[in-house]
Amino acid sequence: LTDIRPVKPILSALHGTVVEPHPVWLMRQAGRYLPEYREIRTKATDFLNLCLTPALASEITLQPIRRFGFDAAILFADILVVPHALGQKVWFAEGEGPRLDPITADRIHKLDPTQLRSTLAPIFETIDRVKSNLPKTTALIGFAGAPWTVATYMIAGRGSDDSTAARLFAYREPQAFTALLDILIAATADYLIAQVQAGAEVLQIFESWAGTVPVEKLEDYSLHPIQQIVSRVRDHAPSVPIIVFPRAAGTNYLRYACETGANAISIDAHTSLSFAIEQFPANVVTQGNIDPLALIAGGRTLRSAVALAKTQTKGRAHIFNLGHGIRPETPIEHVTELLGLIRGSAA
Ligand code: CP3
Repeated sequence: LTDIRPVKPILSALHGTVVEPHPVWLMRQAGRYLPEYREIRTKATDFLNLCLTPALASEITLQPIRRFGFDAAILFADILVVPHALGQKVWFAEGEGPRLDPITADRIHKLDPTQLRSTLAPIFETIDRVKSNLPKTTALIGFAGAPWTVATYMIAGRGSDDSTAARLFAYREPQAFTALLDILIAATADYLIAQVQAGAEVLQIFESWAGTVPVEKLEDYSLHPIQQIVSRVRDHAPSVPIIVFPRAAGTNYLRYACETGANAISIDAHTSLSFAIEQFPANVVTQGNIDPLALIAGGRTLRSAVALAKTQTKGRAHIFNLGHGIRPETPIEHVTELLGLIRGSAA
């Protein structure tokens, strides 16, 4: 079945319908590559405050929709609002990224899930405001980080390429680590359910550090926590499609497609869309996987990347996206070029 112009193309695609041209949105589409974002950014003292100010967060969410007409808006917030809402100190050091007061084994029981909905109430208001200003054909995506990924920041107190602190913590304090994951599973499910109640139509779970989970713990630390969240959300919102992004999962990508219950899997730029389409269960939709650096390069590099992805996904339910977030140094004209290549006959 091929829908030519469904009301919200991305929802049709997520339900398995082949929508041509494939719907498109970009991870981090609201952000620093946009001059109108940088302008608002200067008005807010700190980034967390920006995420928790509905008038500004809703405006930022809508900026890339107005400029480019993506098929989905993604709520402007951050995965670290969950540790913040649990009572951990979180801040964003200018030009350095996130910082947290690192959690220790003896303080895990102090994390308090009871204030989550009230602390994050401004985010639900942002969702409501965005919904009343979105074009009819554009869907709103809510999101959260997966427990492993969020735990890596909570334990290290900052981002790190190899999740050393979280891995050591998990080896040394396995019970405390499991307790932390359990708190995050419950809080994240609750947060995502509240986003749906506020109006989110699609959810994406970011397992950005899937590539650092010790392989013998993949099920316990990543697959099962995500599957738990998916199933809890489904109990409350059975029809809301859920996209899982297990970045850098490599050969484990297949397990995320088979074992999390996701409707769609977002593919990074190092993983083949052909592999995903051949190996994933037929009802799992693919999303991705243009290299964010190909978007920076533009021109012939971008044309060939889009042409390849089009060939690989032809006749399939697929959503165009990048393999990871858009970089701040990306030229805006290249985003326009990308949309032309995806939607036009040029590629
Ligand atoms: O996609 C969107 O446009 C929606 C907003 C969004 C942000 N963060 C805004 C943001 C989303 C979906 C996220 C998710 C997020 N945040 C992830 C998962 C996705 C991924 O990139 O792997 C992670 C790991 C974080 C944690 C985080 N927040 C980091 C590591 C950083 C600093 C690095 C960076 O890219 O800036 C942030 C800050 C952040 N989150 C910014 C934005 C727009 C930049 C802050 C600023 O403007 O000063």
